[in-house]
Amino acid sequence: MPNVLVVGAQWGDEGKGRVVDHLAADAVYAVRFGGGANAGHTLVVNGQKVVLHLIPAGALRPGCRGLIGNGCVMSPASLRAELARLAAAGHPLDPARLGLSPRLHVVTPYHLALDRAEGAAVGTTGRGIGPCYADKVARRGLRLEVLLRGEAAPILAAQRHLVAALHPGLELPAVEAVEAELRADAEALAPFVTDVDLELEAAVRCDAPILFEGAQGALLDIDHGTYPFVTSSTTTAGGVASGVGLWIDLHRRVGVTKAYSTRVGHGPYPTEIEGPIGDQIRTKGAEFGSTTGRPRRCGWIDLPALRQAARLNGLTELAVTKIDVLADIPVLRVAVEHGPDGPVYVDLPGFGDVSAARAWEELPPAAQRYLQLIAEQVGVPVRIVSVGAERAALMTLPEGTP
Ligand code: IMP
Ligand code: MG
Repeated sequence: MPNVLVVGAQWGDEGKGRVVDHLAADAVYAVRFGGGANAGHTLVVNGQKVVLHLIPAGALRPGCRGLIGNGCVMSPASLRAELARLAAAGHPLDPARLGLSPRLHVVTPYHLALDRAEGAAVGTTGRGIGPCYADKVARRGLRLEVLLRGEAAPILAAQRHLVAALHPGLELPAVEAVEAELRADAEALAPFVTDVDLELEAAVRCDAPILFEGAQGALLDIDHGTYPFVTSSTTTAGGVASGVGLWIDLHRRVGVTKAYSTRVGHGPYPTEIEGPIGDQIRTKGAEFGSTTGRPRRCGWIDLPALRQAARLNGLTELAVTKIDVLADIPVLRVAVEHGPDGPVYVDLPGFGDVSAARAWEELPPAAQRYLQLIAEQVGVPVRIVSVGAERAALMTLPEGTP
């Protein structure tokens, strides 16, 4: 069984969680290498909706151990709350099922305060992600291992000082109180701490299949996305080695895209649809942020953007999700190029209900044509198509289909 990378090929929220959930059935490890609780992966397991933020979605499969690598950032309180929510939903994860790198950077209340004060210009998720990565790079960051050793106070004091200087009006909690609270939560998480790099090295030696779960999407990558309207981490394949501490061959590199597109937060969005069709997609696709509840901007699929995602990630295949949401739109527009006056579209005939399809032959010809155009134009085959939120509403396409 090969190692698999699953990444978002758009602006996040492509449905990576359900694709990961499907692929994790064969994996022994499910690993997050970047991002934090800004991510929101919604899964439907046995009819029950589960939202994950930092915990790898693959960890919900009992045979699959979740790991959170050093490239991620973590709020101890928020991770504890996520674990508690999962346990209440019937998915208790103990340290045998989940491991945390000691080199994770800790999101502190000062990061949250700064994100809330400044994040509106970008439309961030308000989870303190950008300020936490900024402090990491400025060598003012707090690693989990340092917090656990009781050495956080001077670092927290430096962070507080900076935020207070930038925003004199903000009320900031005292360092002592912050330290005590962070430490109590971190102590509760201490049994989960593990050497992610060494565990993965051992897994590679015995050919245990590993699944890497990207967060956000290619167009939110700190270097390659629509800067500055991006997140603060490497969301693409390049982030894997540095985000876990090991070079590893990724045999399958799956880019997840919706059959249309969405974006939350500000920034350029050439194929955005304003008006009734955009509203129809938002309502039918339940396009409201799973982390923040914000209505997502909706638009046509953007193939030049997918080509860029394919290049950045060396994609070997595409997973196209939520094609059922496009049902009953008479004409479907597909952006195949970006010209000087905006996107150049190819218009394709729409299709009706596809939610019952479980195989390529069961898709109407217009839906097949739509998927074919995506594969042809992006130059990457479509191997997974989902037509609904349930685990069963997902088909794998055999060789020879687009
Ligand atoms: P941040 O990651 O909270 O700093 O937000 C930066 C940008 O990335 C904003 O436009 C967010 O809406 C967007 N973003 C961050 N995480 C996600 C995600 O998981 N899905 C979709 N958009 C995201
Ligand atoms: Mg999401």
